Amino acid sequence: MDSTRNRLIHILSENEETYISGQDISDALQISRNSVWKHMKALEKDGYVIEGVPRKGYRILKHPDKVSDNTIKWGLETEWLGQTIIHKSSAASTQQLIHQAAADGAKHGTVAILDEQTAGRGRMNREWHSAGNKGMWLSILLRPKILPQEAPQLTLLTATVLADVLKDYTGVEPMIKWPNDLLINKKKTAGILTEMQAEQDQIQYIVVGIGLNINHTSDDIPGMLASKATSLYLETGKHWSIQELIQQFLQKFEAAFDAYLAHGFSDVKKKWESYGFKIGEKIKIKNLKEEKKAIFHGIAEDGALLVLHDNGKEEKIYSGEIQWFE
Ligand code: BTN
Repeated sequence: MDSTRNRLIHILSENEETYISGQDISDALQISRNSVWKHMKALEKDGYVIEGVPRKGYRILKHPDKVSDNTIKWGLETEWLGQTIIHKSSAASTQQLIHQAAADGAKHGTVAILDEQTAGRGRMNREWHSAGNKGMWLSILLRPKILPQEAPQLTLLTATVLADVLKDYTGVEPMIKWPNDLLINKKKTAGILTEMQAEQDQIQYIVVGIGLNINHTSDDIPGMLASKATSLYLETGKHWSIQELIQQFLQKFEAAFDAYLAHGFSDVKKKWESYGFKIGEKIKIKNLKEEKKAIFHGIAEDGALLVLHDNGKEEKIYSGEIQWFE
């Protein structure tokens, strides 16, 4: 977007409650009064509702319900998360955008958002369907001072933040399926992909990618996923603002992340377990060497999967594939 336009939105957004005169805008942007007026008209065309009152000036009444770096930043109550937003209508994947930004030295808290991903990726290199303007396709760059082995805790934390957003904002009752699938009525609505660049004992950066199906109708969900996947629209019968969900998510994520750094993982563990799917039920754990059945007992203080064996002993599981019984 035109950088004068960006600066204009910024000035108007900073003065949300008050009017700002055409002269003040023209001085701040060093453009003529006539150009200010033309920019205002262009903003209105983009869906902004602007009030212009003679002798008072202008103010924005409403931002368009569209995702852009400006509309997300407007009214976003965060200190460090989303201060830099990379937004594009279409590209391969927000994970890729953040890996590239990290390599270019981007700051902790940089966020990438795409309206459409042409090569969205899920865990285990699976494809992640990311239809245009239907969901939240977002990745966050984090540069936390934690140990590499603690990084999986951030995936669990992210799942709890998403669950809180869904519950508080849309009223659904989400559950988290180990480690990080968000379910509504037992169908997957969101997934999280955490990737890390690290040396033996030091994290360079982490990319947390979140995919949330929001306004998908059944036609937008590929046939083979129909019995397993859903969207907020399909579960509530309502369309939801992607822009507002992104803002809610970023605000809650920042608060949860700061609390985690200050107080550790134990509150995240409790919250995760409060949303945990099939805790207390039998699961099968498979790794290269063996296969065993045990009861899913929750998560451990360090974020590992906790199981309970028939002999009453608990075991922490750090790797392996988990299978659930229907
Ligand atoms: C999973 O459940 O397998 C994880 C899905 C993660 C999808 C998100 S969408 C935003 C970000 N970009 C990607 O390509 N993947 C993640």
